[in-house]
Amino acid sequence: MDKFEIHGGAPLEGGIAVSGAKNSALPALAACLLTADPVVLDRIPPVRDIHTMEKLLEHAGARVTIEGEQVTVEADAVQNAEAPYDLVKTMRASSLVLGPLVARCGRARVSVPGGCAIGARPINLHVAGLEQLGATVRQEHGYIEAEAPHGLEGAEVHFDRITVTGTEDLMMAAVLARGETVIHNAAREPEVVDLAALLTKMGARIEGAGTSVIRIQGVAKLRGARHAIIADRIETGTFLIAGAITRGDLHVTCCEPDHLRAFIAKLRSAGVEVSEPVPGTLRVRCGPKLRSVDVTTEEHPGFPTDLQAQFMALMTRAEGISIITETIFENRFMHAQELARMGANIRLEGRQAMVAGPMPLSGAQVIASDLRASASLVLAGLAAQGETVIDRVYHIDRGYDRIEAKLARVGARIRRL
Ligand code: EPU
Repeated sequence: MDKFEIHGGAPLEGGIAVSGAKNSALPALAACLLTADPVVLDRIPPVRDIHTMEKLLEHAGARVTIEGEQVTVEADAVQNAEAPYDLVKTMRASSLVLGPLVARCGRARVSVPGGCAIGARPINLHVAGLEQLGATVRQEHGYIEAEAPHGLEGAEVHFDRITVTGTEDLMMAAVLARGETVIHNAAREPEVVDLAALLTKMGARIEGAGTSVIRIQGVAKLRGARHAIIADRIETGTFLIAGAITRGDLHVTCCEPDHLRAFIAKLRSAGVEVSEPVPGTLRVRCGPKLRSVDVTTEEHPGFPTDLQAQFMALMTRAEGISIITETIFENRFMHAQELARMGANIRLEGRQAMVAGPMPLSGAQVIASDLRASASLVLAGLAAQGETVIDRVYHIDRGYDRIEAKLARVGARIRRL
């Protein structure tokens, strides 16, 4: 199993480029199942979850051609409307093929995702939404079997709580349904807007993406399209913290600052200098003193749960007590114990973490438990004195494109073992 070895203390300096967003590329690839024409997607990050989604598409019968960061999907024949357990167990976002497969084939068989390190993460809301569009859904032998042999019918859907992939799944089902679908309490994430942009290029009629009410007029057929995926806002945020925590001077390029306003505001309140020298670039430097600030994770446009672990690493270096409240997932503090092994002073109480600082971090052997927790340990390792060895970095490879190579180019002493 791969590990990272990090010698901390080097300030990061120079330019570091952001890749395409994993969480936008995943639904975009699933959307390719909605048309028989080729769809060309640019800026697809070569990360493990994307390879899993490509395997899912191939399993369904699509041809997937990868040329660098460009991926072409040709789903002229979908013979197998199934997402098997072996693929779903490695990536929960596999449930994103449920909506497109029912819309395209009139049926789908998707393995039920099991538990996850960060929370239970059920997909009951995806299923309830599809049922409201007229699908018959039953769960048997660990699989969700959905059927709509005569096609889906538009409907009013009210999500009980905001779900990102649930919103995306239902949008992809509704674009080929008869009549109008209105999704209330929809997710407003930039990835939802990006999916709507792709589907619109394919001929779908969608209004309101980016707001909490999305209206979709179903069409009979979708066509091929070409689309470039948006910048990864979570990778952007991770690099901003890397610049701040190492007291460096980093230009994070090819990013979209508007997708990260709540996060950037928190960095500034903590005393981090963030400027936008040119459109699409953020420059980050640490001010004279890092101050503790409280954060509560929220759905977009609030502070993203996917940056909570990385922000906690930064707060170990800030003066005062920071209260970090996680509201999206019930078990997303696995990094806290590992940060404590590196010298952090963190107390957990239910969904809150109290981080007292500044504490000197010292390199240690730690274990990555999930994707964003691994990123937080890398950040702590960059700031720590001495050597940090992070085990199980396959978690980080799920969502970051060669993070160690990108960080090494701006001065980090990090290598893969
Ligand atoms: N939920 C339900 N029922 C459902 C769906 C969700 O109860 O049917 C609950 C979840 O258990 C959770 C909350 O609703 O407590 C929100 O979950 P959501 O559905 O929004 O999460 P997701 O769509 O499964 C996406 C990202 C996650 C990110 C969350 C929240 C993708 C592929 N994944 O997951 O990304 O944390 O939204 O923003 O888009 C990551 O990249 O590290 C990651 C975990």
